[in-house]
Amino acid sequence: METFSYWLSFSVSINLRWITVNLITTLVVVSDEPLDDNAILEVLRGVMDPELNLNIVDLGMVRSAHADGSTAHVTIALTTAGCPLRATIKRDCESRVGTLPGITKVTLHWDELTPEERTKVMDRARSNARDNAAPTQIPGRTRVISIASGKGGVGKSSVTVNLATALATEGFTVGVLDADIWGFSIPRMLGIDSRLSARPAHSEEERGKIVPEHKKVGRGVLKVVSTGLMVDTEETALMWRGLMLAKAVEQFLHDVDWGDLDYLLIDMPPGTGDVQMALARLLPQAEMLVVTTPALSAQKVAVRVADMARRSHMPVLGVIENMGAFQTPDGQSWPLFGEGGGQRLAEEISAPLLGSIPLEPSISKGGDSGEPVAIQNGPAGNAFRKLATRIVEEILPPINMEDCSATEITEVAVTLRNE
Ligand SMILES: Nc1ncnc2c1ncn2[C@@H]1O[C@H](COP(=O)(O)OP(=O)(O)OP(=O)(O)O)[C@@H](O)[C@H]1O
Ligand SMILES: [Mg+2]
Repeated sequence: METFSYWLSFSVSINLRWITVNLITTLVVVSDEPLDDNAILEVLRGVMDPELNLNIVDLGMVRSAHADGSTAHVTIALTTAGCPLRATIKRDCESRVGTLPGITKVTLHWDELTPEERTKVMDRARSNARDNAAPTQIPGRTRVISIASGKGGVGKSSVTVNLATALATEGFTVGVLDADIWGFSIPRMLGIDSRLSARPAHSEEERGKIVPEHKKVGRGVLKVVSTGLMVDTEETALMWRGLMLAKAVEQFLHDVDWGDLDYLLIDMPPGTGDVQMALARLLPQAEMLVVTTPALSAQKVAVRVADMARRSHMPVLGVIENMGAFQTPDGQSWPLFGEGGGQRLAEEISAPLLGSIPLEPSISKGGDSGEPVAIQNGPAGNAFRKLATRIVEEILPPINMEDCSATEITEVAVTLRNE
């Protein structure tokens, strides 16, 4: 409870800067005017330069951005023409700008910063690092995936813990953020019953930080944060409800010492609402996986969440169909919850169907015992591992900083040390 009060003490300050950013985003979102260059720039703020930990617009790397009919042209100047992160930046620009209404094609043009411009970019990165202006503690290289659905009970939390576990098994460091503040289920599903600890501030300027719960899985590690690791019972959680809901997710992003992460998976509360909007605002680099069931009726509500994602310019990575046909040991397939919902939704929102997870009692058993099915053999475990491989290899590969020259980063770090 002490940790909780400590954490709560952060939550009363109102951050005007973010309210301003939110207003700007809202204005862009609701505008029916023909697309102007600012709208493109606004969504490009979701594209991080993973090396410099700041978005490419604020860094001054976007030379120009304009729409010509349904084609958006974006010119980006890189620190060096052979920048190994070029492919990552290209993909991120295309998926962000592609969410804008009326844009069907995104053409990227490349340029190289002049030595003077490079100095300016480095200055911006430096002052950002110094002022700690980064809006969250999530590193710029982290791939952020929000797992959402239009309605409750379709398997968001099960998909989150199993996908996170499958990614960690492959050796990745995966953050798991339970954004279902009052309906938390992540701690139980991962078998964690300890309490989060807090690290006090080292100086008056610094704020104290919450330390996520670490769980080693295979060759990797999960770093988990949930309200369920702060309050003693769900009844206690309810007591804090009104006071904290609006700020809770923000605090999880600001005041948790996440450290380095390859992926951050966010288990969203059911439906569309404040938390959804807050995330799009706080983590403009987030992308969404939509979970649905095979029932054709479920797809209508899932379309709503995908619409919401588009309105806040969050690219939809794809659809995951959960509770697909039950497979008997002798190979028969029983589509108890219907068929085709995942594929139909994918077509409707023009996103790929990334996988179908069968209905399998071991999923709920694993959720209750804290041993996710993703580490077990069987159709469901295999399906989750296949999904993780597809994400890593094709849909959202991790950003490997070892490929980078990282000279810029070293330069910033050295200058900061010397200041
Ligand atoms: N493929 C599956 N096979 C069998 N049971 C499943 C499957 N997926 C989820 N479940 C079970 O269905 C229930 C709901 O799943 P889960 O809690 O993951 O859904 P949710 O979308 O996160 O729900 P909420 O909206 O309440 O947060 C749980 O008991 C879970 O164990
Ligand atoms: Mg849930």
